[in-house]
Order: sequence, then structure tokens, then C-alpha cells
Amino acid sequence: MNDQGDNRITNLSRSQDESFSEVCERRFSRRAFVKTGVAAGVAAATLGLAGCSSDKAPSESAAQDNRWRESNPYKSSFDFHEVEHGGDEHHHVAPDHSAEVLIRWGDPLFRNAPEFDPSAQTAESQSLQFGYNNDYVGYLGLEPKKGQEARALLCVNHEYPIAGLMFPNFPKDGYEKLSAEQVAITQAATGNSIVEVGLKDSEWSVNTNSKYNRRISTLDTEIEISGPAAGHHRLKTSADKHGRVVIGTMNNCAGGMTPWGTYLTCEENFNNHFLGEIPDNHPEAENHARYNVPYDYTNWGKHDKRFDIGVEPNEPNRFGWVVEIDPLNPKSRPKKRTALGRFKHEGGETIVAPDGRLVVYMGDDQQFEYLYKFVSRDTVNLDRPKANQDLLDHGTLYVAKFYDEGYLEWLPLEHGNGPLQAEFESQADVLINVRKAADLLGATPMDRPEDVVPNKENGKVYVMLTNNSKRKEANNANPRVENYFGHIIELTELDNDFTSTRAYWDVMVKCGNPDVPNHQAMWNPKTSKNGWFASPDNAVVDPSGRLWVSSDQGGKAFMSGTNDGLWALETEGSMRGTGKMFFRVPNGAELCGPAFSDDGESLFVAVQHPGDTGKPGEVRAETASTQWPDFADGMPPRPSIVVIQKKAGGQVG
Ligand code: FEO
Ligand code: CA
Repeated sequence: MNDQGDNRITNLSRSQDESFSEVCERRFSRRAFVKTGVAAGVAAATLGLAGCSSDKAPSESAAQDNRWRESNPYKSSFDFHEVEHGGDEHHHVAPDHSAEVLIRWGDPLFRNAPEFDPSAQTAESQSLQFGYNNDYVGYLGLEPKKGQEARALLCVNHEYPIAGLMFPNFPKDGYEKLSAEQVAITQAATGNSIVEVGLKDSEWSVNTNSKYNRRISTLDTEIEISGPAAGHHRLKTSADKHGRVVIGTMNNCAGGMTPWGTYLTCEENFNNHFLGEIPDNHPEAENHARYNVPYDYTNWGKHDKRFDIGVEPNEPNRFGWVVEIDPLNPKSRPKKRTALGRFKHEGGETIVAPDGRLVVYMGDDQQFEYLYKFVSRDTVNLDRPKANQDLLDHGTLYVAKFYDEGYLEWLPLEHGNGPLQAEFESQADVLINVRKAADLLGATPMDRPEDVVPNKENGKVYVMLTNNSKRKEANNANPRVENYFGHIIELTELDNDFTSTRAYWDVMVKCGNPDVPNHQAMWNPKTSKNGWFASPDNAVVDPSGRLWVSSDQGGKAFMSGTNDGLWALETEGSMRGTGKMFFRVPNGAELCGPAFSDDGESLFVAVQHPGDTGKPGEVRAETASTQWPDFADGMPPRPSIVVIQKKAGGQVG
């Protein structure tokens, strides 16, 4: 999401009192930790225990290397010609590739869906059409049909509505006046789409006849609440006396696919849809303040009373979860997996650990919030997908505490753990206000954790930290005050075991312009003038184990001088920390959901909120900074999925 939506800090206590010296108060000496690593047969040197090398390779040296960078080609593991930094109304891809719009907001998903007409939109039509603001894209390969080269289901998040871009001639004070029908349209436009796509004669297209196509929305989809918090009294409302079924999932930002073929969709800024008040002494007052509830800009609560916390104070507790959807069973009820905790989930990327258990890496995308992982209790059964249907209901949720010496501890968010025993009544209670539990355990407040992506090829885990302009005190894991440009941390779990409770970490790049000293950026000096970026957000590892990172500067593209986009980022060898620009989005957009086909020959990217330039609430379709992708009279800019292929065939990039 464009971060203009919600950038208040709610972790006030931690952000103010987490001083540098406090971070330096160590429960383990570094030496003891190194010893453990060596004992486990892992040489400290290979694990980057130069550790805080984050302070080496300063930006000045990069600036000095400028001439060298521009005149000397270098060996890259990526084989494409770079896109240049810049910004205009169009998208741009590396010249040796094609980039075609595959599906746009409003395009029919079903045979009986009406064609998109923005001036006559209804909630009913929207429920049969592709939703708004596509974010995460998951790729689930299917057996191709006769004549096809490939077939897949795309699992797509539709994060949030922008009424000023969705409704023609939207009035100045339109947000306060959104009608009941407009609210219903925006509810129908968010949530998820499952859509079948096929590749024939090297061209991808949507199959509107597919039995798998599905819309899930906040308007009318029943979602089951599952796991330890299901049925808890804090999840009960007047519409759901048992606390087990909720209508809809919303603010679905990024996500992940499980090894058994289900789709995890992650609820992020759910607070944006709530309005109303509760008294300061209400039992939920502290909890709601910690999650920025209410933070209304959509007027849902006026017409749909469950989004008014004065009427339904528990309704916000029913959002902020990871939801599992089975795309192969279009009639199945999605499940909110409460064992994974309630926070502003960015994504949920999964990997199977050496012992067969599943690990899900997750970021809480707000300034000074935390990095989490979930480790399942049971092992994954790859032979029988059904056997995993409740795997995500049992396991341990951990939060990260970073130490300046280059390692971290994963702290279990278990009810019996230290201060959590007295502060919470049960594990369900811990999971509902997991931010408070993480505060109590002394987790490290980070610079807005976004995607966290494990790489099964090399065992590393990449953590996108998008920015944090409010940081006043630096530490080695969040090394810049007023961090406008973000950074990327690489984790190496102890013993290369994703279930470990300790890991080594290293700052791989500090984003921003390496030629501007006050950005204090850190890149490999071989990075070209287009190769650096700002505000890393989504990321993906391609089938060859190479890392790709997309950016979301949240309306601050003027600071970097380039629109958002997708960059290839070297992670190994002498080129480590070198970026290369691959795709650039049109004005006002961010780039989300990069997803590769299984063979790496197609790349699906989500262009979110094109034309959304300017102050929140003020943008309008008619005057937007682009009318991409249609550029047609009466047609607003439309968030769309773009599919990228190499012109000569073969692996993308
Ligand atoms: Fe929805 Fe973290 O961006
Ligand atoms: Ca995002």
C-alpha cells in the first residue's frame, strides 16, 4: 500500500525507549554465540560474522567510483539491458523483454460478468469482475490443456479502494459522502481474485470459463476463524455470537503460497476501514490504540455498522490475520489462521525446514514494528495435500530481537513465556494483541518490515525494510536515523535450519542514491546509475535462486527522481549488493506481487494505484497523473497485472 495511508507510530513506548545502549545489553556474549555456531560445524567466517559490515563500504567510495561504474561493463548473473530511472505515464521493461497487460481492474472474471463501465458500476458487477488495486500475485501451475504451453491459477490480492480514482467526477468532499452503494462497490472491489490463465502460442490470456475463477470480498464472503483464537470472546460480535465466522478479508497486501498449493493472503492496514469511538476505559481501548483503530477514510462504518467500533468494538479483532485459501476448491471457505498472530501483515512466504516442518516469515508493516516467523508443530506432507489442511493451526510464533553484533534471537510468543503469563489470560489473548506481547518480550522495533523471503537455493532469508522517517536513534540493524530510503537485511538461520531460534544477519544494501552523500546509501560500487532504488517492498526469488525487489516510495518518488519499479539484485560473490533496473511503473503507481511461472519464463507483476500522485483523498480519475493502461476517454487509470516474457524466449532476466 502507498504508505501515505497510515504512517502514525503506535509503538510509542518501544520507539522512544529502545536506546542504542539498551540494544547493546546482551543476554549472550557474542563469543558464546560464535562458539555455538562453530560447534554446529558452521564456520563463523562463512556466516558473515564480520557481522556489522553494515558500516563498511560507505557511500563516499561509491560516489568516487562513479566514472568507473559508467564506463565499465561488468559480469552480471542477469542478462538484460537496464531500464533507466525516470517517470512518465507509461510502463517500461528491459528492451529485450515484452510486457503485456493481462488483466485490469473491472475486467470480467466470469462468462456472465458485465463489461466494465466505470460510470455505471454496481457492487453486483464488481463482484463478477477483477478487483481494484492488485497487490500480491501467487502462481499455482496446473497441467496445460491440449494446445497450451502452460496453465496456472493466479491468486491475486486487491488491497484497498481509492474512491477518488474509482468513481468518475468524484466530488471534493466525496469521502464523507460516500453512499451505501459506493461503499458496497468498494467492498466488492477489495479482497481477492483467483483467475485461470493459459499460455498459447507464447501469449498469456485469461480463461473466463474456468471453474476455478473466484472473487472473495469484504462484501459477502464467509471466512472461518481457525486456530487458537477461534471462538474467543474478544472475537464475538452481534452477527457472530460464536466468534468463528467473519464476512470478508481486507487490506490484503502481500502473501505466499504453501508447498501444498494453498494461498496465504495477509491482512495489513485493516484499521483504515473503522470509524467511531469507544470509552478510554473500554477493555479494547489499549488494543485498538496499539493497532491505530480507528483510522477511517472509507466511510464503511457509516453504512455498514460493523465497521463502527462504538457499535461493534470486537470487529477490528477479526481482521489483521493471515488467511489461507484453497484455490483448487472454489467452494471452500477460506480460513483465518490465528496461530500466525494478529498484526499488520505484509506477507507470509513459506519454506519447508530440513526436518519437514513449515516456516512462514512475516513482517508487520508499520514504523517501529517487528519481524516474525511461524514454525509449524507438524511436518508437511507433500504427497497428500489434504493432510496439511490444519497444519497452520498448530505451531510457535516467534518475534525477532536483533543484537548489534550481527545475530538475532527468535523469541517465542507463548503464553507461558516470561511476562506474557501474567499479562494475558491465554494464548488466544496473546495472538489477538501480539504487538503488545512482542513489546513485553523486548523485540527489536524495525524500519517497517515488508516482504521476508527465504531462498531455498542458498538458505538465506531476505528482509525488506522499506523506510522509517521517524527513527531518531540508529542501531546496527536499523542503521540510519530518519531512514527515508529503507534497507535490506539478509538472515542466515543457525545451522542453516529455518526452525532455529537464532540467526546471523547482515545489512546487504542501504537504499537511496549512492551519489548523494546525505542519503548515506550503501551499494556495491559496481551498481549502475539506474541500479539503486528506494523503499524496498515486495521481493521474490526466481527459480534460479536470484533475488528481485520491487519498490514503493509511497508518493515520495520526487526524493529519488524515479518512479517505482522492479530491480534485480545480486546476492552472491563480488557482485553482491548490485542492483539492476528491470521494470518501471507509470506515474503514481507502485510495483507489487512479482511472481514467476515455475519455469521462470514468465513474470507476473501487479501495477498498483497508477495515477495516485498527490495528497491522499485529493486524487481524481480525470486529472490523475496517468490514464494507464487504456488512455481512453471516460476510462480511469486501472490497476492491472502485466506479464513479462523474454522476446527471444527463455528465462526472464
Ligand atoms: Fe500494503 Fe506494506 O504495503
Ligand atoms: Ca506492500
